[in-house]
Amino acid sequence: MSENLRELISAAKTAFEQASDLDQFKSARLSHLGDKSPIALANRELSQLAPTDRAARGQEINSVKSEIAAMAQSREEELTRERDERILIEERVDVTLPTRVSQRGGLHPLTLLRDDICDLFVGLGYEVAEGPELESEWLNFDALNIPADHPARTMQDTFFIEPLTTKLVLRTHTSPVQVRTMLDRKPPIYVICPGRTFRSDELDATHTPVFNQVEGLVIDEHITMAHLKGTLDHFATAMFGEGINTRLRPSFFPFTEPSAEVDIRCFVCRGESKECRTCKGEGWVEWGGCGMVNPKVLIACGIDINRNSGFAFGMGLERTLMFRHGITDMREIVEGDVRFTAQFGVGR
Ligand code: PHE
Repeated sequence: MSENLRELISAAKTAFEQASDLDQFKSARLSHLGDKSPIALANRELSQLAPTDRAARGQEINSVKSEIAAMAQSREEELTRERDERILIEERVDVTLPTRVSQRGGLHPLTLLRDDICDLFVGLGYEVAEGPELESEWLNFDALNIPADHPARTMQDTFFIEPLTTKLVLRTHTSPVQVRTMLDRKPPIYVICPGRTFRSDELDATHTPVFNQVEGLVIDEHITMAHLKGTLDHFATAMFGEGINTRLRPSFFPFTEPSAEVDIRCFVCRGESKECRTCKGEGWVEWGGCGMVNPKVLIACGIDINRNSGFAFGMGLERTLMFRHGITDMREIVEGDVRFTAQFGVGR
């Protein structure tokens, strides 16, 4: 083999070895095996040779060409392997890393509590009743035996709708749903009425102008205060745990007679600490209002008071949520900060 052909092999060998990645290798291969490479030129010059020399020279060129091609192939394989190994390391994905979970919407803790309460009463055979938030004055007040001069009706408490001749208010409690239910159905009536209510209070740690109540109403034969007390005890225990029962404290509501405030056993000290800050040493905390439905209300709603009697109770949902979870500022419930709601499993 001629000297210059042998040199082509060693030049190609060096060039392929010096190529340190596939891009460099490609240009080296072009220079040493491409159309304009010395070996290709040598092949083209064959035609100028005398026919007798052509075959031998042709064979030499072919064998040099295949040697260079073989070197190229093995170098290419080597560089490809190196690149694949590097990519495996550089672009490694740790499949055990936690993923970025997209935020999911969820129900507000008040809604969850409302649903829990409805479930509890549905389990006792009650139905869920609802009424409008924009209510007639007659249903919100008059039918409930709240006379026109009652302080609850004054501008201080009630959001009246203009013009006042519409006689519409934002309901100040869920009790008008009692009236709607009694006007709608015949006893026996067992309903639980959750809903939004409105009073013109400033938002602070213990007040919010928009709040939620849940109201219970039972109208049946031979209903007594003992049924009311038993129902409330069951409700309180379901809400606040074993051992938390209720106490009725005489009070007044125009729509119930007799009426009582419902207190629950202090869920912090359980009545065992005179220093308790939650109940101020009382052993009880106020939860809601209740009573036997006033016969005047029963009559206004067309109920036969010789056959039927009933009880009603009403609680604030926000207050109930605060008691259950040790929330001390009502604003946290209202503001809708996900850092607050996430604690209840919402928005995670
Ligand atoms: N409606 C009363 C209030 O908002 C609560 C209540 C309901 C009292 C039912 C007695 C019976 O204060």
